[in-house]
Amino acid sequence: MDTKYIVANWKMNGNFKLVQQYQDFFSQHVIKHRVVVCPPYPFLDQIQHDRYDVGAQDCHFEINGAFTGSISAAILKKINTQYIILGHSERRVQFNETNALVFKKVNAALDENLIPIICVGETLQEKEIGQATAVITRQLEESIPITQKKLMIAYEPIWAIGTGHVPSSEDIERIHTLIRRLYPEAPIVYGGSVNKTNIHGILNIKNVDGVLVGGASLDVSFFETLI
Ligand code: 13P
Repeated sequence: MDTKYIVANWKMNGNFKLVQQYQDFFSQHVIKHRVVVCPPYPFLDQIQHDRYDVGAQDCHFEINGAFTGSISAAILKKINTQYIILGHSERRVQFNETNALVFKKVNAALDENLIPIICVGETLQEKEIGQATAVITRQLEESIPITQKKLMIAYEPIWAIGTGHVPSSEDIERIHTLIRRLYPEAPIVYGGSVNKTNIHGILNIKNVDGVLVGGASLDVSFFETLI
């Protein structure tokens, strides 16, 4: 199997013990794939390791200013962050993030030469009424600026996140192939209920360049299956 991307999104979870467990595990093992670890902001600086890259889970679109509680791509860059997850459905739904806002954040990340991981995906209702392709195409077109710089795209069906439900291989391949046609250069990762058992099957699907893993990444033993 080619080298794939394994992106761990801790969301609002984790603690210094988990940071240490990651560092210990990766000091002792070599993973066959490219790993990106995305913990909450306070751990970004501490979790650094030469066997993986580090990513944030969001950023503000401005470089600096009076935006209490926010963090800029410029600040993230200074603490050795290489990636930023943007437009995750939890931000789109819980914080009303629109495609237009995600577009501005993606530009901010690219301006700092950080690699945005731009998330798209349909709701169950959109899937059931046959709108998945249209919704995803629109999210892509409106969230991603035209650029020569490196970016990554994550397909995360909202109904598959944290539910234990995963789309059929055919459906994953169909959406990834659609994204590939629009963005031939970008790695495309799948996210939504990836675990130790299903990861290998998912990584073998055509046009899947890796996975974005939530809950399962909170136990570092998840990576044992990738040694
Ligand atoms: P789960 O792996 O917990 O379903 O989360 C997926 C996700 O949202 C990763 O960004």
